[in-house]
Amino acid sequence: NRRRDFADVRVLVTAGATWEPFDPVRILSNRSTGKMGYAVAEAARDRGATVTLVAGPGELRSPEGVRLIRVETALEMRDAVLANLPMHDVLIKAAAVSDYRPAVVHPSKVKKTEGPLTVELVRNPDILMEVSRHRRPDQVIVGFAAETEDVEKNALEKLRRKNLDYIVANDVSMAGAGFAVDTNIVTIYGRDGTALALPPLSKREVADRLLDVIRDTRGKVGAGS
Ligand code: C5P
Repeated sequence: NRRRDFADVRVLVTAGATWEPFDPVRILSNRSTGKMGYAVAEAARDRGATVTLVAGPGELRSPEGVRLIRVETALEMRDAVLANLPMHDVLIKAAAVSDYRPAVVHPSKVKKTEGPLTVELVRNPDILMEVSRHRRPDQVIVGFAAETEDVEKNALEKLRRKNLDYIVANDVSMAGAGFAVDTNIVTIYGRDGTALALPPLSKREVADRLLDVIRDTRGKVGAGS
């Protein structure tokens, strides 16, 4: 029974892409729309959770009954996640964070010239790696892995490296999965070795299945186990 089974649970969700400015008019970003993360936030809210949603820029409307923190860059998302993490029991990190940002942000629009333009990119911090150093053992940390090949191998490697309790892996090259569609095809891997392969489902149903998994193991999972 999913009714109110997340009452008294505080859930922090991230959603969407980040925007990495190059100059006042140009950005580096990716194809994420935030649909998966918004679906997780709404599902958790409907099951009684207190939900904070850290969302990148996008067209999606603000969900009612959810505390929304809007961010643009990966650095802003990191600050919002680390500042709010201590007050939450569960972190579900569905955002597609830009791995790189332009090394220099130009204060005025860069003029085009005839020749090519080389832009230096620097690495953004990996927010989940930082979370893994600050998390409490009683917190449940969930990552997402969008892959185009070797989905299982890459997902399990991320699960271990980022010290996650679960990773939700999807092959974004498959029709009906990944960016900008309303459905997803995922496998939920647990640090305990479990693998739950789900059929094609709406993102809302994927969110509910993920919350079912978290509910059934909360208290039994965590860095200390
Ligand atoms: O390594 P990769 O980006 O594929 O891992 C995906 C997971 O890591 C997602 O949950 C994403 O939100 C998170 N991530 C992050 N900070 C980054 C890059 C990814 O928290 N800089």
